[in-house]
Amino acid sequence: MARFIVEGSCNKLSGKLTVQGSKNGALPLLSASVLVAGESVFTGCPKLTDIRAAENILTYLGCRVNENASAICVDSTDAYRYAIPDGLMREMRSSIVFLGALLGRFGRAELTAPGGCEIGLRPIDLHLEAMRALGAVIDETGGRLVCSCPNGLKGARISLSFPSVGATENILLAACTANGDTLVINAAREPEVAELAEYLNSCGAKIFGAGESVIRIEGVKRLNASCHTVWQDRIAAVTYMSAAAVTGGDLWLDMKRTELLLPVVEPFEKMGCTVDLRPDAVRFKGADRLDKFGMVRTLPFPGFPTDSQADFAVMASVARGTSTIVENIFENRFKYVCELRRMGAQIRTENRIAIIEGVSRLSGAEVTSPDLRGGSALVVAALCSDSVTVVDDIYHIDRGYENFEKQLENLGVKIKREE
Ligand code: EPZ
Repeated sequence: MARFIVEGSCNKLSGKLTVQGSKNGALPLLSASVLVAGESVFTGCPKLTDIRAAENILTYLGCRVNENASAICVDSTDAYRYAIPDGLMREMRSSIVFLGALLGRFGRAELTAPGGCEIGLRPIDLHLEAMRALGAVIDETGGRLVCSCPNGLKGARISLSFPSVGATENILLAACTANGDTLVINAAREPEVAELAEYLNSCGAKIFGAGESVIRIEGVKRLNASCHTVWQDRIAAVTYMSAAAVTGGDLWLDMKRTELLLPVVEPFEKMGCTVDLRPDAVRFKGADRLDKFGMVRTLPFPGFPTDSQADFAVMASVARGTSTIVENIFENRFKYVCELRRMGAQIRTENRIAIIEGVSRLSGAEVTSPDLRGGSALVVAALCSDSVTVVDDIYHIDRGYENFEKQLENLGVKIKREE
């Protein structure tokens, strides 16, 4: 297994960084390519193991996938399979968003439960309920989902009991070529939903209101492939900002749509950091010593993102005073806390609450990456520790951060990958 060796007592991180394309934005776009006729071209896709996993699924389905330095091209003209084997499904969570695309394309789909980070139970009931409302018949036996649409997909009114990102994406994919109109009530408002709608609309879909809680989709007969540049990753941006924060550093992030970072600006400012959101860049400055941020509660967008809570726990660990995180989205997202405690962090957890008393410095230790965001946060913690930290199981981090160690090295971090 690969690991990172990170030197602590890091100098102030400083420099310029172009924020990578968003993994969570790119994955539903790749599955959308199954649905549209012709060759979809996606530029700005990050090079990550989860993206490879999606490409493997597309290739298995019979799509022609070509990747060059700047783009991933997917031609789904000859796609002929609608069943995804268990091994490919388990590679990541987003494999479930092939469900809506396959139903839209073939009227059939066969899959198993998706893999991904173990941060909670992560059921798929909302996805299945929504597909049933659109006319799918789903047989769940032996861990396999066998789905068909005997009367085709038909528009419907769907009220989600929780604004699930993945379920909303599946509805968009299945409904845009369904017969009639679909109304999604309590839809997820995450930017990844708005981005998927932007791409599908560029292919001829008629989706209105994506990014808001009510989405209306007018079914169209056919979609034609188009080109799209993947939006930049708001979550990765926060990780690099937190790395600058714990070292009192100074960063320029090249990034468009910087307003997507608004949900984290206030807690950063409470800690004494400066976040200057410009149209095409973020100027970020840490503080000599961070202050507590008080309390953050993770919520669906535009609330504070669950994917950034581990970064904030690390910053709170070396801040003056006590901070609290309430995790409202996933029930098991504090696995990284045990590892942080090994580094001297003073954190108590009770169910979905973490109470963090800041200490002046963490100590180097050997820690294990429990999941994607917990893993990258441990690397950030290593930067403000007093000696060398070894972060094991970094395959989790490779799922979501493109050239993580190179990016950090460019900003002045001493980090080495060992296979
Ligand atoms: C997406 O997961 C992201 N993953 C997650 O990022 C992110 O944390 C999450 O949205 C919330 O923003 C991808 O986009 C690939 P949900 P998703 O469906 O779609 C419950 C990362 O680190 N739920 O909005 O799986 C679920 O258990 C990852 O990049 C049901 O109960 O999130 C959770 O408690 C981790 N039934 C809550 O809803 C369902 O059918 C939110 O899940 C679906 C979800």
